[in-house]
Amino acid sequence: MRIPDSRTPDPVLPRRLRAAFGRFATGVAVVTAATPDGTPVGMTVNSFTSVSLDPPLVLFCVGRRSRLHPVFAEAEAFAVNVLREGQLALCRRFASPGFDRFDTIEPREGSTGVPLLPSALAVFECVEPQTVPAGDHDVIIGRVAALETAPDDHAEPLVFFGGGYRFLSTEFQWWSAWHS
Ligand SMILES: Cc1cc2nc3c(=O)[nH]c(=O)nc-3n(C[C@H](O)[C@H](O)[C@H](O)COP(=O)(O)O)c2cc1C
Repeated sequence: MRIPDSRTPDPVLPRRLRAAFGRFATGVAVVTAATPDGTPVGMTVNSFTSVSLDPPLVLFCVGRRSRLHPVFAEAEAFAVNVLREGQLALCRRFASPGFDRFDTIEPREGSTGVPLLPSALAVFECVEPQTVPAGDHDVIIGRVAALETAPDDHAEPLVFFGGGYRFLSTEFQWWSAWHS
């Protein structure tokens, strides 16, 4: 009989996989784009990743079964709006299926024409998207054509960890940890 210990790998079941993925703390962003008729759409993601400085590339992943998958797969531009800790309501709104997420929000137009959310911590406007199929998601890679960062030095991010939201309460002082 095999006795489980801490080194026994868990079988890769979806529930366990989701829980293990959740151990990787991320920020939260809303990816926005416009449909061909100009309607703004957006979806909360935590799959945003910086990829390359030269050329400037970023990516996010969109579920192939998402209602917005066809929009993001065909959009000529998209924007990644990085959320602040005070934007949990926006995060929830843009993760909820079944209604017009922009019905009470007036988007502003970015320099590439893409709709943007107000007051994000950072905004990356991306063009020339490339779509790479990957299992039940598509990876969408875009070239950053314009960016904004919030001027507020004390701006704090919204953090997603373990299936819930967190705020960064203290700044990690690497030098004090190094010398202790
Ligand atoms: C914190 C968080 C992160 C998410 N990250 C992603 C993601 O990276 N990719 C994705 O396709 N959906 C992600 N979702 C789910 C979408 O926001 C959305 O709820 C889902 O696509 C269902 O809505 P839709 O079918 O109308 O698009 C995330 C949801 C939450 C709450």
